[in-house]
Amino acid sequence: MHNDIEKTLITEEEIAAKCEELGQQLTKEYEERFPLAVGVLKGALPFMSDVLRHIHTYLEMDFMDVSSYDGGTRSSGEVKIVKDLDTKVEGRDLLIIEDIIDSGLTLSYLVDLFKYRKANSIKIVTLLDKPLGRTSHIKADMVGFEVPNEFVVGYGLDYQERYRNLPYIGVLKPEIYGGDEA
Ligand code: PRP
Ligand code: MN
Ligand code: MG
Repeated sequence: MHNDIEKTLITEEEIAAKCEELGQQLTKEYEERFPLAVGVLKGALPFMSDVLRHIHTYLEMDFMDVSSYDGGTRSSGEVKIVKDLDTKVEGRDLLIIEDIIDSGLTLSYLVDLFKYRKANSIKIVTLLDKPLGRTSHIKADMVGFEVPNEFVVGYGLDYQERYRNLPYIGVLKPEIYGGDEA
């Protein structure tokens, strides 16, 4: 598995330090409130798990599974709900947790949905931001790291469901995904 990685982009230690830093900011942000932390499955799982342990205030957790990619590298251009929230959104302060914003399609869909459901506030925290991939106007409130327009995997991010369990973020060797597409 590690042999498929061309280079490490962000180490395990850098990720851990960033989770602590973001958690401290989020603790201040949500002090005296009871936010609903929404993890976007499956990619956000490791980041959500690590960052939440640095948020020292009451919070509720829920999960949404939406999918815009067909397992490959190219967006199908459609977002579908695979699993919806169990929690009522109306009046809640939402913290959406993502692993990466690429085209922005997933998050713009979710933000519209949660506005329609009358959330009191919506904030987005993403570990990675790939601004060069953007096709829709969406900006995270908090970003861990900006990444170049390369095929990144690990720490939740997959290629054909593999590599999510890598403890670091790496760039996949082009021969693995067979092309120069990012
Ligand atoms: C990936 C990633 C983000 C989204 C970002 O999820 O985890 O959720 O794509 O891309 P976008 O900004 O172009 O929408 P994916 O749909 O592949 O599902 P997964 O999290 O289960 O891998
Ligand atoms: Mn995802
Ligand atoms: Mg994916």
